[in-house]
Parts: sequence; C-alpha cells; structure tokens
Amino acid sequence: MTKLLGVIGDPIAHSLSPVIHNGWLRDMGFNAVYEAMQVPEGEFQNALKTLENRDCLGINITLPHKANALRCASEASDTAQRIGAANTLTFRGGNTWRADNTDVPGFIKALGALDPDRDRAVVLGAGGSARAIVHALSVHGIELTILNRTVSKAEALAHDLGARGTKADDIDQYKDYLESATIVINTTSMGYGGNSLELPIGNNRTFFDISYGKISAPQLEHAAARGWQVKDGLTMLVAQAAFSFEIWFGEMPDLAAGLNRCRAALRATS
Ligand code: ATR
Repeated sequence: MTKLLGVIGDPIAHSLSPVIHNGWLRDMGFNAVYEAMQVPEGEFQNALKTLENRDCLGINITLPHKANALRCASEASDTAQRIGAANTLTFRGGNTWRADNTDVPGFIKALGALDPDRDRAVVLGAGGSARAIVHALSVHGIELTILNRTVSKAEALAHDLGARGTKADDIDQYKDYLESATIVINTTSMGYGGNSLELPIGNNRTFFDISYGKISAPQLEHAAARGWQVKDGLTMLVAQAAFSFEIWFGEMPDLAAGLNRCRAALRATS
C-alpha cells in the first residue's frame, strides 16, 4: 500500500518540498508519495482528521500552521515545545500525532561548522523564522544579537529563546553590529519588497539569507561582491526536509541530490 506524505500550508503551490521528497522516495525505493496540500488557516485540524483515514505516514507543516501543528500533537520533541512551533508531524495511529521541529537541525546543518569560541552571530528579523534560528544558535553557545525593525519583538525573542547575554536592538543600527560579527543571518522579509541592506566588506565572513531564488538574489549578489561567503535558504530547506525524512524512514537521504533537484526546478520556472 502506497503511504501518503505531504506538506500543509497556505500558500503552498510553489513549495519545493514535493520535488525534494519525491526525488528521495524514488532514489531510495520507498513506496510512498509526497503531496502539497493547500489548507487555509482555521482548517488545519480538519485536514489532520482527513489524513488519519488515508494511510498517512507524516506531514510537513509550513505557514501559517506551525504553531497549530504543535497544539494538535499529543506528543512533541523538547525543541518543538521550546520554539512553540512544529514543521513535522508523524502519525502514530488513531488520532495521535508526534510533533518535531527539524528547522533547528536543518539550519545548523546548512550553516556548517560553528565555533562558540570564535563565532559571533547577528540575526536580522524577529518573526516566526527567526525563532528556530535563535534557539539553534543559543543551544550551540554562539554569542548573539537580534536586530529588528520593531525592537520590542527582538527583545521578546532574546528573552524567550536567547541564552543569557543575547542582545536586541533596532535593525537601523546593523552597521555597528556587523563589524564584529562572523555570521549574519537574514530572516527578514525585506527581500519580498525588493529591499536589501548595504553591507561592509565581508572578508570571507558568512552571510546566510534564509530566502532563496529571486527574493534573496539581489542581497546575496551584493554580499558576495563585498567578499562575504554567501548561503541561501535552499540549503536549509533541503536539510530540514532531510531530517523530517529521517524521522519517517529512519534513513538520512542524499542532501546534494535534493539540492540539485531544487536548483533545477527553480531554473526551469525562472
Ligand atoms: P517569518 O515567519 O518569515 O519570519 P514574519 O513573522 O512575518 O515572517 O517576520 C518577518 C520579519 O521581517 C519581521 O522581523 C519583520 O520586522 P517587524 O517585526 O518589525 O515587522 C521583518 N521585516 C519585514 N519587512 C521588513 C523591512 N522592509 N525592513 C526590515 N525588516 C522587515
């Protein structure tokens, strides 16, 4: 019997998750199919009920349902509970689901080597996406500053999920903080409005934008031209998908294959 997997969100039409997961399912010979499921806000619980009768193994969850996914689960990992959001649900039979958050290990995997003795991070933005990143960096002992247009949200996030000493300030002050940072992570949605930040010389420091494709391209091209090592959000998208896949199948899939398929899919649609 073919098992069902999928991603629930709204909007969801442009999600690359089916490309990533169906590629791995084919590569590894699992009898399952992964679908994108558009579910409006307020309909999440009904969607789960439907899936409980459809031989569903698990689902990924994206905006606007991540907090609701955690609430609907009967069991949750410490990380998902701490962040208050789940991006992975695993069906446990009856009407029970387990919640995990693979954005955290996905971000760390995408970022690569971290050194608490040397690295200092600046996180730009304090919205939903910043929560997993602030938690991940804090758990790894990285000195951290959160900069946001609405300073009170940066302060609340630092207080909620930051380690002791995590700073918060206005994003307008970013130039002061970027001087001493070794890693800068842009989680803001300013790229959607065509805006980007002017950066100082990078000297091979890391600039990670969690968006990808046309949204992050102008910011990343500027960062690369200023000498930053740049990463876009595709690496994180593929890595979080891989950790979800591992939860469902007990095997880690090939990240490079997933990334290549995403880049090919983006090229085909641009
Ligand atoms: P996500 O879940 O993707 O993090 P979000 O919760 O809507 O989305 O958060 C968007 C983030 O981008 C916020 O930090 C927002 O700043 P505010 O908290 O002040 O709203 C930030 N943001 C959006 N547009 C911005 C802009 N033009 N300049 C700077 N920051 C911006």
